[in-house]
Order: sequence, then structure tokens, then C-alpha cells
Amino acid sequence: MNDFHNDIQEVLLDEESIHEINRKLGEAITKDYADKNPLVISVLRGAVIFTADLIREIKCPLGIDFMAVSSYGDSTKSSGTVRILKDLDTEIEGRHVLIAEDVLDSGLTLDFLMDMLKNRKPASIEVVAFAVKDVEGRESAIEPKYVGCHVGDEFIVGYGLDYAEQYRNLPYIGVLKPEIYS
Ligand code: PRP
Repeated sequence: MNDFHNDIQEVLLDEESIHEINRKLGEAITKDYADKNPLVISVLRGAVIFTADLIREIKCPLGIDFMAVSSYGDSTKSSGTVRILKDLDTEIEGRHVLIAEDVLDSGLTLDFLMDMLKNRKPASIEVVAFAVKDVEGRESAIEPKYVGCHVGDEFIVGYGLDYAEQYRNLPYIGVLKPEIYS
């Protein structure tokens, strides 16, 4: 059997830490959205695992929908362009929208999504990011209202995050060994 745990250099966040982060995010979001029936928009594919955990920690009515965008392909660096692979099925005019992202890196994906979705006149639009990468010189001005944690500028995988479509099913977030992608 190919034990892909061996490709991980270091575990950054184990399952227990991830659960605690989601519990706190859910508590804050529950307070703010108690009577707002927000629409949680999950950004496929990476955020699907985070979204599934997060919404179970939000203790008020909500809806979910999905968008698929891609900027990375199979590379470790952003290609600089964002493509819509799947749009929403829900009208968001007048809805309170909460975009759920697994990781904010360059911010390119969220810049693009925020611009596009604001044009559809939601009642409000905010971002919940499980992790924000502390990268130098980020050009995006996006400030997620809810941030689960900060991570360094390392190549991380697991908990939805991939390298060449692998590792998304690791239950923890870990740093990929450089020899795997170099
Ligand atoms: C990854 C990640 C975020 C985005 C963040 O998605 O899931 O959506 O990149 O990077 P940015 O802040 O630099 O835009 P990716 O495009 O790799 O697609 P995926 O979710 O299918 O893995």
C-alpha cells in the first residue's frame, strides 16, 4: 500500500485542533447570523471538507451552494487567472452570503469571487477562511471577517488541500516534503 502519510514533513494542525477551530468559527457565525438564514457558498473543491465541518458547528438555519473555480491547475503556484468551472444554482440578491474558503493564499480567488458576487446585490457578503497564509506582498485587500488560523508560506496539503489532486483526504493539515513537488 502507498502510505501517503510518509510524504508529509510535519503535521501543522491535527484533527483535534481543526475541530476546535471550526467550533469557534461556528460559534461566532451563529451569533452574527442567528436570524439571517445565510447562504454559505463553498468554493470547490478544496473547501468542501471544511464547509461540511463548519456548517455543523453553525447552530442556526442556513442554506448552502457551491461554486467551482480554479486558478492553480496541477502546479504549486497560481497561474494568475481564475476560471469559473461551476456557478451557483441559487439567486443571491437580498441574501446574506458567507463564502467559505479553505485557504487564502494570494487572494486572487476571493478577489474574483467577491467582485462577481457583489454585482448580484446580496444583502451582505463576508468570507470565512479556515486558514490564511502569511505571505509577503499580498496584493489582495481581502480581509476575511472570520479566520480560523494563520499558517506560514509553506506547501500545505490535507483537509481538502491538494497537490496534483492528491492528499485532500488526509484528516490533518501537513507540510508536503519538498522532494514530492520539486
Ligand atoms: C486553492 C484553494 C483556494 C485558492 C486559494 O484552490 O482551495 O480556493 O487556491 O489561493 P489564492 O488565494 O492564491 O487564490 P485551487 O484553485 O487550487 O482549486 P481546488 O480548490 O480545486 O484545489
